[in-house]
Amino acid sequence: MKRWIMGAAGVLLLAVIGVGAWLFVPARAPQVVPAQAQADAAKLHDPALIERGAYLAKLGDCAACHTTRGGAPYAGGRPLTTPFGEVSAPNITPDAATGIGAWHFADFWRALHEGIGRHGQPLYPVFSYTSFTKVSRDDALALFAYLKSLPPVQQPARAPELQFPYSVRQGLVAWRALYFQPGEYQPDPKQSPEWNRGAYLVEGLGHCNECHTTRNAFGAMDEERRLAGGQIPAQSWYAPDLSMQPGGGLAGWSQQEIVALLKTGTSTKGSAFGPMADVVRLSTQHMNDADLAAVAVYLQSLPPRQPVAAAPVVRASDHAHGGELYAKRCADCHGDNGQGVAGTYPPLDDNTSVTEPTGINAVRSVLLGGFAPATAGNPQPYSMPPFAQSLSDTEVAAVVNYVRQSWGNHAAPVAAGDVSRLRHTPVD
Ligand code: HEC
Ligand code: HEC
Ligand code: HEC
Repeated sequence: MKRWIMGAAGVLLLAVIGVGAWLFVPARAPQVVPAQAQADAAKLHDPALIERGAYLAKLGDCAACHTTRGGAPYAGGRPLTTPFGEVSAPNITPDAATGIGAWHFADFWRALHEGIGRHGQPLYPVFSYTSFTKVSRDDALALFAYLKSLPPVQQPARAPELQFPYSVRQGLVAWRALYFQPGEYQPDPKQSPEWNRGAYLVEGLGHCNECHTTRNAFGAMDEERRLAGGQIPAQSWYAPDLSMQPGGGLAGWSQQEIVALLKTGTSTKGSAFGPMADVVRLSTQHMNDADLAAVAVYLQSLPPRQPVAAAPVVRASDHAHGGELYAKRCADCHGDNGQGVAGTYPPLDDNTSVTEPTGINAVRSVLLGGFAPATAGNPQPYSMPPFAQSLSDTEVAAVVNYVRQSWGNHAAPVAAGDVSRLRHTPVD
């Protein structure tokens, strides 16, 4: 509670400073060099550029946020939940009144690169511009050309529904000063072109770090621990550490296994579920082989992590109870020793998402069941039934703890109270 109050006071202060700073920063139109603007505009109808933009939009997963369930692609309206309230992604089809029909490339570049809207207003960082700022100008132009080529859809934006002081957009001026550094990706000359391409995709356009990194009380990423895993704010899912080195979440994964997971949604090490299933379905399955390999090469180079402290072990009787439930309810699919069945049922032994620090993913998998995403590489994924109706909180905790503390797994136990709380969280 105390921490929350301090957090709220801090944000209030940020908002006040932000409003103060805002008064001295006049809203301005983006700086445009007329010759450059003409050259950009001339390229927008180039079919090759539009096609490249369509591919890049998949890599950036723009449709995921900018499309409401059952709605027209890119026409916006999908409310995104943050710890501070909801922000809806706006319409980015080329409708002149409600979309980006009247935008010039300079406006679009400023939104993507600087997180500033067409009227000079700072944008909420739930729009992943903290990563998209690394996108190159050429790629941004291709994205813009593609969006401009879409059928225009008339759909007005929905105003954000945020609590005070977050509702004061100008408060973002201070947030940005503290946590946002605009800048295109700068290749590291010491690394291969493939590594640099992977870094550009993971840290920039693919914005993997937006979920796979812990955030502080102000919703900013912990720069020291990029891609080291984090709970997705306001969602009950944990995006695990992506280091493939010893101690890392993906230790023991080969590059082929990373590629298989991103391309098909399943691998011999585990399968994609929850928000990652959507990422695979809408974005990574469409990556070409060179880009997939580049992502794997980059993840392979993330530094090794500190070994985690030994977790408390559950009581022998609770472990035995969990073991009975496992044998009855789970072993048919996941195997007596959690080894899974290659290509069909994921292993639970040595599975990052089973042993991630919070236990949230395993609990939710058991409560909700699920499908891996249907992809071209795995069109009919096997499914897991939900156990929310048939197992009590104590039983879910027992079976999850059994799985987290059997075979090679040594993760911290969850409590029945955690299960009860997670039962009542929205599905996504
Ligand atoms: C994680 C969700 C998310 C993803 C992914 C995302 N956006 Fe957005 N985007 C938003 C939200 C939310 C806003 C509105 C922010 C605000 O109101 O301050 C926004 C705003 C924008 C704007 C400003 C529009 C306006 O009317 O002010 C543009 C342009 C934009 N996004 C383009 C893109 C492109 C291009 C991509 C893919 C490369 C993308 N977005 C991916 C959530 C997202
Ligand atoms: C919207 C949030 C989100 C984004 C963006 C995201 N991930 Fe994930 N990712 C998750 C969550 C949640 C999990 C845990 C569930 C699972 O294992 O599928 C996960 C799991 C993974 C796993 C482990 C899968 C397993 O079976 O153990 C890998 C590898 C991965 N992500 C790679 C990536 C890469 C590479 C990107 C960027 C291209 C990315 N993720 C972007 C949320 C995200
Ligand atoms: C009918 C077969 C079946 C049964 C029974 C079953 N599962 Fe699963 N399980 C699956 C499939 C298929 C997936 C992959 C689903 C996905 O990716 O969304 C999965 C995924 C999981 C995951 C997430 C791991 C990952 O990498 O996707 C966990 C944890 C899990 N199961 C635990 C259990 C436990 C514990 C039980 C018993 C209470 C159980 N399962 C019963 C088929 C089953």
